[in-house]
Amino acid sequence: MNALDRPLHPVSLPEGWTPSSWRGKAAAQQPVYPDADALAGVLGELGRLPPLVTSWEILALKQQVAEAQEGRRFLLQGGDCAESFEDCESGLISNRLKVLLQMSLVLVHGLRLPVVRVGRFAGQYAKPRSTDDETRDGVTLPSYRGDFVNQPEFTAAARTADPRRMVKGHARSAMTMNFVRALIDGGFADLHHPEYWDLAWVHHSSLSEEYHRMVAAVGDAVRFMETISGEALHNLNRADFYTSHEALLLPYEEALTRQVPRQWGWFNLSTHFPWIGMRTAAIDGAHVEYFRGLRNPVAVKIGPSVTPDQLLRLADVLNPDNEAGRLTFIQRMGATKVDERLPPLVQAVQREGKKVLWVCDPMHGNTESTSNGFKTRRFDTIRSELDRSFDIHAGLGSRLGGVHLELTGEDVTECLGGARALTEIDLERAYRSTVDPRLNYEQSLEIAMLIVRKQAALARPAQA
Ligand code: PEP
Ligand code: CO
Repeated sequence: MNALDRPLHPVSLPEGWTPSSWRGKAAAQQPVYPDADALAGVLGELGRLPPLVTSWEILALKQQVAEAQEGRRFLLQGGDCAESFEDCESGLISNRLKVLLQMSLVLVHGLRLPVVRVGRFAGQYAKPRSTDDETRDGVTLPSYRGDFVNQPEFTAAARTADPRRMVKGHARSAMTMNFVRALIDGGFADLHHPEYWDLAWVHHSSLSEEYHRMVAAVGDAVRFMETISGEALHNLNRADFYTSHEALLLPYEEALTRQVPRQWGWFNLSTHFPWIGMRTAAIDGAHVEYFRGLRNPVAVKIGPSVTPDQLLRLADVLNPDNEAGRLTFIQRMGATKVDERLPPLVQAVQREGKKVLWVCDPMHGNTESTSNGFKTRRFDTIRSELDRSFDIHAGLGSRLGGVHLELTGEDVTECLGGARALTEIDLERAYRSTVDPRLNYEQSLEIAMLIVRKQAALARPAQA
């Protein structure tokens, strides 16, 4: 059954839930807005502004996540750790889209599966912090919480939470969405023209030859099918792209939570695929309360301290009807912990028959600092967590159905290693992230190629 033909009656209406019921729970990681009237005015305005996505798209994505849960799709989710208002710029947006399209071509070709493409963009403007305040030279100010909330400069004015920034973030998200949609509708993602999404670097990368071989093979397959069917294959001229962000700043998310005609229930219309971050996933906290009432597909980051019991309670609260496509767990254990921590969680999900999509975020459990003062991640460590995760799932008869990455289409030097073997000295050359280190375009493509090789190895029967 197509997602759009589903019956309009509810699977189950969440009891006692409203878009604001989270306000009765402890809300971690929220800013303090000094001017309550200004905040109320902004939330009223946001509540009247048009949404950024539609319920049809959200339900179509839910259907695709359900297919990924059944092993019929692979999910690719990626983008910046944090977007910034300043980086809402055409070149940066189209390069990020290009690298995601290239990765998805590699995955489609190698895995022989359709890929669900989800960007970490058009709303990834709020960040969790380890402390509420920051002290420098005896001066204490609120921490920078992302462009949705305040500014990074260390002055009282810049660090004061300003609700108008939510309106600006909504507008930047809409501009980003608008540009992405226009590129895709205009044929940017057309499989007949993969040269549209070539990045200049592709020609001088050691991965270039392998990538272009795949492009040529896909092109041949397309032409072959069109020749024998006598008509152009439909849908090859566009690729669906969905958006996601950490739905951290609850007043903003509440204002974009809407009902729509001819659908039951409530949708978060600020993004297709919101997720709960590791620091806000408490079962009795405000974020879980807010998420349980949404009809969107939702994801939760699962860190190494989560117990099987806690995991099952999250599944019960967020997906009481065990609805297909509804729930994704994004595991982010760290390469040194994944062997110990992941298996009991996977087994608990299997034992209880929970419908879950497992996605690996090999970035956030593997952050370290270098001697020259950079926050970085090692390509080999990222690769190792990903590799081990595929093995662990396969060994237990489960399936890792997706990957969640922090990446950019730019030639940055933020993560160590990869095909070009970036060193600590290289980090000084092009380190641009103000938050977490991202894979550059080449390292991202390399990860896609590694996933394909890993899956091929797992699919080969063990040598007798
Ligand atoms: C993030 O995805 O940028 C993030 C903060 O992740 P986590 O919640 O897993 O730490
Ligand atoms: Co991050």
